[in-house]
Amino acid sequence: MLAGSGTSILGCAEPFIEEPTDATFLHGVASGDPRIDAVILWTRVTTNARTEVPVHWAIAQDPEFSKVVRFGKTQTSASADFTVKIDVQELKRGEIYYYRFKVGDKYSPVGRTKTLPSSDVEKISLAIVSCSHYAFGYFNVYRELTRHNDLDAVIHLGDYIYEAGAEGYGGEIGKTLGRQHQPANELLTLQDYRQRFAQYRTDPDLQAAHASTPFITIWDDHETADNAWASGAVYHDPKTKGDWTERRNAALQAYYEWMPIRDPEPGQLFYQLHRTYDFGTIASLHIIESRLTARSQQVSYSKDMVYKTTPFDFSDPKNPKPIRNEAYLATLPAALVRYVKTPFDMRGDIPIPILDYGQIEAFSLNGLPEGFDYSPDLETFRRDVLGDENRQMLGARQEAWLAKELRDSRAKNISWQILGNQTLMVRMDAPYLVDAFPEELIADAKNNNPYVRDWLDVTRYGLPINSDSWDGYPAARKRVFDIARSTNANLLVVAGDTHNFWANELHDETDGKRIGVEFGTSSVTSMGGYEWLGDAPEIFSIAEQKMMEKNKAVRFFNARDRGYIHLELTSDKAHANFIKVDTVRSRKYTADRLKRFTVTIDSPGNISAPEEDR
Ligand SMILES: [Fe+2]
Repeated sequence: MLAGSGTSILGCAEPFIEEPTDATFLHGVASGDPRIDAVILWTRVTTNARTEVPVHWAIAQDPEFSKVVRFGKTQTSASADFTVKIDVQELKRGEIYYYRFKVGDKYSPVGRTKTLPSSDVEKISLAIVSCSHYAFGYFNVYRELTRHNDLDAVIHLGDYIYEAGAEGYGGEIGKTLGRQHQPANELLTLQDYRQRFAQYRTDPDLQAAHASTPFITIWDDHETADNAWASGAVYHDPKTKGDWTERRNAALQAYYEWMPIRDPEPGQLFYQLHRTYDFGTIASLHIIESRLTARSQQVSYSKDMVYKTTPFDFSDPKNPKPIRNEAYLATLPAALVRYVKTPFDMRGDIPIPILDYGQIEAFSLNGLPEGFDYSPDLETFRRDVLGDENRQMLGARQEAWLAKELRDSRAKNISWQILGNQTLMVRMDAPYLVDAFPEELIADAKNNNPYVRDWLDVTRYGLPINSDSWDGYPAARKRVFDIARSTNANLLVVAGDTHNFWANELHDETDGKRIGVEFGTSSVTSMGGYEWLGDAPEIFSIAEQKMMEKNKAVRFFNARDRGYIHLELTSDKAHANFIKVDTVRSRKYTADRLKRFTVTIDSPGNISAPEEDR
């Protein structure tokens, strides 16, 4: 890349390089990964050229490019899917810049970007977004972001694209809106993922958001595959979908090509994308990667459940006897004791355990008859399965990195430590939802959708509602809380993934101390989980009320609206504005502030609960 400074070189291509004449910039421009003196500029050239394409770029202090501060030339080719990324250096801190590209005599649209601010800035303004499924609706939320003129950055917490095919998740709505996923198949190859990014980036609202503000991004699962973990995904069956590592690598290659982000630092693996951004002394933002670095496989409530057992005395193997006496059990050699899963007769008011070994064996061979069931041992399941210390979200190396970053941030006297996180971190148990809703409201969903039926049914155990979130990894969450606590962090966690809005307190389970506050953003378009039950407004009111009743740490839960969070920070206050759009099924929409919460720093390491501003 040639770089220099001067008034403007755009318009004076070197004559000996052949530049394509068919070039256009159909996918707009974007910027991201700002530093105090640098930013990534991005575009893609649409061309039939078969060779390298020379691309000029320039960045200026004004949108007319009369004050160009840096410019240069690079090239792209089919090997990068004709995407272009420039890491522009030596910029001034906290400055707004304008940039554009040029191939032949064609100019790209002009983008606006901003470097990270200097230490004397008094206020920071961020937009938090996640879950932008093309087929589920119009990107009105992205359009709305362009109306802010004070944003320092947009933080995208993942599910920027979805991997589903045109007939899969969101397909029905995509059909009615004329926004069906392309390619029509579920994404598996590099070509698939590239084509999907290209489709999303033709959207004018997404292009406008990128052109207006630098993005800081991290993937969640759908950029690779649904419910991904470090060496697979719940919805990736290698028998039908091929090798997981190849698929992940293809997905991430497309991600790095198409997103305005810096390539990994030397020594950093490309799938371990954690990094820190300092916004003056107001806030440091720590983007963590909780999918592909180290995440253990999700616990399944059906496959991994622990059931109540009865100890049997096998002294006489032909006639095993149940042991009812603890003292007798203690006298038996371990080799003679076997713990056998206990069926219960559920037909009466009280479940009756079946202790006849012959009958137990017959049940286990032939299946349980109607009216009989096994009984989950929830305490053991929570402690030994969900609570297994070895289950990872970040992994030891990323945890150590996070501890250092939080310590450094506090040492620099930075007020807020923000965790840019994918899935919800609050501890939250499911209320019993089958009883919660009047039968007639949800009958259709229950009768026609086995997934919904199972999901409702399993809430009777009062387990965490989503074992793919941090609730499925309580030991890993405790380690993050310990890090925040030991570094005196003023911890604000932002999360996506749920397609709902949340204001939560984060507590250390061991002594109840408040460790931080979590704001969960709703989706740009993706449908909220409770919409699967029906569209009666009561469904949302009941879900919201039951969830907050059951979980005092949840101070606010909105199950019905799409939107984003506008986060405003000063040295001692954080204001989270929950902005909703009234529809994503039409390009005509209105946006409104749904709620505003304020968190105050009381003393280092002690922040208030989120208080609603009225
Ligand atoms: Fe999502």
